[in-house]
Amino acid sequence: VTVQDTFAPVLEAWYERHKRNLPWRHTRDPYAIWLSEVILQQTRVAQGLPYYERFLNTYPHVRAMAEADERDILRLWQGLGYYSRARNMHQTARQITTERAGKFPDTYQSLLQLKGIGAYTAAAIASFAFGERVAVVDGNVYRVLARVFGISEDITTTQARKTFATLAQQLIQAANDPATYNQAIMEFGAIQCTPVAPDCLLCPVHAHCVAFQTGRQHLLPVKSKK
Ligand code: ADE
Repeated sequence: VTVQDTFAPVLEAWYERHKRNLPWRHTRDPYAIWLSEVILQQTRVAQGLPYYERFLNTYPHVRAMAEADERDILRLWQGLGYYSRARNMHQTARQITTERAGKFPDTYQSLLQLKGIGAYTAAAIASFAFGERVAVVDGNVYRVLARVFGISEDITTTQARKTFATLAQQLIQAANDPATYNQAIMEFGAIQCTPVAPDCLLCPVHAHCVAFQTGRQHLLPVKSKK
């Protein structure tokens, strides 16, 4: 057995012991999951939590959001910044309502067809809501994979992004449950394989981690532009 075969199950087991109890982890509603991922894209969990609750209470389903006045959405978004996220979200809600009668697409490929939904969000919704075996790749995932597998390609390049996406998709094949594994690798990046001063002695994969074994944790991932 290789680290590629054990990585996903080990992270899933770690997750069951260490996961935070977060409301979007208790729903399979694609709308609620989408909302959480849009909020969390450039926002910390602690800051995003009350916004998630307020948005779900105010707009409990995609049609409610689609029919809202944009000014009300922007008012509710106040404090989160990057207001294009909110406008984009509203546009996507309208598209789902008008073109799909309010029914969320239920596969990765069909989610990608929506104008406001990119690869990361499509993978998150497809796996968390529908159990599809498609890997999420976000900043946490780049960091974890760069370190464990010793990848020193610059993550801002197209070539590197392909390398990481391919590896991530290979790793999820060994997961017991794709949704759990995707939550697990993001949670692992957020609280164990942290950007600064990761506590590698406590890490369940340190014996296999190229970065730890070569003392390069703080040098990976490589990111040229910002
Ligand atoms: N950041 C982005 N997606 C997340 C999720 N599902 N749980 C926790 N943090 C996240």
